[in-house]
Amino acid sequence: MTEQISPARAIHGVIRVPGDKSISHRYAMLAAIAQGESEIYNYSTGADCASTLSCLEALGARHGFSNLNGHSVLKMHGKGLAGLAAPHEVLDAGNSGSTIRMLSGILAAQPFTSEIGGDESLSKRPMGRIMSPLAEMGARIDASDRQCPPLRIHGSALHGIDYSLPIPSAQVKSCVLLAGLHANGETTVRERITTRDHTEIALRELGADITLEPRFARIRGGIQLSAKRLFVPGDISSAAFFIVAALVAREADLIVTSVGLNPTRTVILDVLRSMGAMIKLLHVEEANGELIGNLQIRTSRIRGGVIEGPTTAALIDEIPILSVLGALSEEGLIVRNAAELRVKETDRIDALARNFRAMGITAATTADGIEIPGKQKFRAATVQSYGDHRIAMAFSIAGLAADGPCFIEGAEAASISFPEFYATLQEIAIV
Ligand code: S3P
Repeated sequence: MTEQISPARAIHGVIRVPGDKSISHRYAMLAAIAQGESEIYNYSTGADCASTLSCLEALGARHGFSNLNGHSVLKMHGKGLAGLAAPHEVLDAGNSGSTIRMLSGILAAQPFTSEIGGDESLSKRPMGRIMSPLAEMGARIDASDRQCPPLRIHGSALHGIDYSLPIPSAQVKSCVLLAGLHANGETTVRERITTRDHTEIALRELGADITLEPRFARIRGGIQLSAKRLFVPGDISSAAFFIVAALVAREADLIVTSVGLNPTRTVILDVLRSMGAMIKLLHVEEANGELIGNLQIRTSRIRGGVIEGPTTAALIDEIPILSVLGALSEEGLIVRNAAELRVKETDRIDALARNFRAMGITAATTADGIEIPGKQKFRAATVQSYGDHRIAMAFSIAGLAADGPCFIEGAEAASISFPEFYATLQEIAIV
């Protein structure tokens, strides 16, 4: 599908973004292995989170959607810690790295063998990072020579380990903690660089015996979780596209309501503010241990700057849209220590460089980063999503600032995390 994007004069409106993708995956998985029926409000509408639900369904955890006063409610029938059933088919994680990596932690502890794979992109993504700690816990997992999906997981009795994450990855941390929930004894995960902590918070909310300290989590195995009513905040990583659209518009006043403001995810706001962005927090509350608030964004002069080290890890999903912003900033943007971008849904460094070239933007790439000089002008062009939702959305926003209509080929990729993206864009962009 090709989307046409027309240059925008202004950005105005009050919008919502879909439920947070990371939190949705976790609530669905934990609700499936809890005892009782959980109600999950505002579950992500993205295809990735539907992949998690279909895998859980194939494992015997049934769910249904209903509507309550305009809110979507997902009911998940929990099977308890030892209640999942052997699937009759290969589990299909689609495009979703979070699904395969986190669910593998649960599958490794089941008394059956299962196989889990996904689409062409997922079949190229590295799984050695979860296979190695799970093997230490006693799991047996077969994969291709390159340690890529599909994974054949021979479930076995696991034992707790003390694991230091070699790379900053919340998916790996979550996989080990979910395996630890099923294992004998205690499992400890330590990280050098803080990553999103939604799994730890959700485990605590559902009654796990978990000790949390900065960059440290310890879980006791064998404790049953209890079903709960859960509310998923809006996805700040989806909001980021519209935040940038408003910042660079000639005229803007945008409000994004009910956005997740977990401090492990709001580094994007801190960085934007440090570059001169006018972003106000209007109202903040808490639900299930997660902060939620409304954001107001106005047109701002963005200086640009350097993103590196722990900051890169904390906003890895926002680098495509920040790179677009970098080209429009005063001083440009330098991104370092972002090798992980090369193993996302596509090689995002390469995809950024190709689309920038098509739009007449100068950028230099390195093995683990990208440098984009500031004060550049986007030329009208046809760009590609490369099958990656964040590339499709980042270059749609670039199109708003271009000197004529742009075409995004493969724009349907946006539905991986944000099926309503183009409709929302149409609502707020005044052309
Ligand atoms: C995620 C963690 C990050 C992020 C991904 C979602 C999660 O991946 O990029 O979009 O939900 O835990 P890594 O764990 O590979 O860093």
